[in-house]
Amino acid sequence: MKKQVLTGIKPTGRVHLGNYIGAIKPALDLAQNEYSETAYFVADYHGLTQIHSCEEMKELSYCIAATWLALGLDHEKAIFYRQSDVPEIFELSWILSCFAPKGLMNRAHAYKSIVESNQQIGKDLDTGVNMGLFTYPILMAADILLFQTDLVPVGKDQVQHVEIARDIAGNFNKQYGEVFHIPDYVIQEESAVLPGLDGRKMSKSYQNTIPIFEEPKKLQKLINKIKTDSSLPKEPKDPNSSIIFSLYKEFATSVQIEDLKEKFHSGIGWGEAKKELFHVMNAYLEEPREKYYELMSSPKLLDEILEQGALKARAKTIPFLEEVKQTIGIHRSSRI
Ligand code: TRP
Repeated sequence: MKKQVLTGIKPTGRVHLGNYIGAIKPALDLAQNEYSETAYFVADYHGLTQIHSCEEMKELSYCIAATWLALGLDHEKAIFYRQSDVPEIFELSWILSCFAPKGLMNRAHAYKSIVESNQQIGKDLDTGVNMGLFTYPILMAADILLFQTDLVPVGKDQVQHVEIARDIAGNFNKQYGEVFHIPDYVIQEESAVLPGLDGRKMSKSYQNTIPIFEEPKKLQKLINKIKTDSSLPKEPKDPNSSIIFSLYKEFATSVQIEDLKEKFHSGIGWGEAKKELFHVMNAYLEEPREKYYELMSSPKLLDEILEQGALKARAKTIPFLEEVKQTIGIHRSSRI
């Protein structure tokens, strides 16, 4: 039996290297495996919890689609779609919400951290929380459970969401029998904490990211901004405590890595080390970047690919949702 692998990205900002290393790359690696069937999507309705501008929503959704394809997603092989093109997800989301304890949502990280920061500054606890944000994990559970997913490759920050999906599926199954598969998550252990420009975790909310398809000149500028210590050019440096070295390891060959390690030990200037980092990163990203810009200039092609993908997706989701509805005793009109 093949394993169903599924993951999505919400269009809320430019995709950065942390997203790529922590979630996209491991997901694409799983697609190489002949024992898996893969479903990858643009989680546009998850994005709507944050993005309330028509233009931005359109642009960012295309960005995510083009990013997946530019980085090597094979849309003939995988099911590749826009979440909003698969209406069964939203119907299942309602059904699941009736099996999701409110207390479980109260404990979800994204919601909890807003409440906590509201508390700190003395605001009403629910300031800035829309119901989409509050029920975000339920929609995500619907994404996952509708495809009978076995494995969800995600960044560390999404683990709790997969656990919530498991809980909700469990609640449902307890009542009706084994209707839903219980999914597992897959995380990229060693590179789960890619450092950003300031050394903290690379994250949009810290504004310390390196967008993956940045133009070479800007990429170089960003790399030059990476925080380093005050050791002098000829002083030996510890590769393991350097952001530059951590990033370098993700893009260089093992020979190059050993080589740079040596140079750190014998004393390399930070400027020089940054140049080497730029060199490997740029070489690695050059081809996908070109493909990305090409795809971004053909939104029609992207639409076509995504709509084809939605047809493939719905061939799975329509019959399965039907099964779920029958299970709970919801009538299906014979005219549909
Ligand atoms: N919450 C994920 C993110 O923030 C996006 C997402 C939506 C997702 N639905 C999903 C990821 C289902 C994995 C499986 O990027």
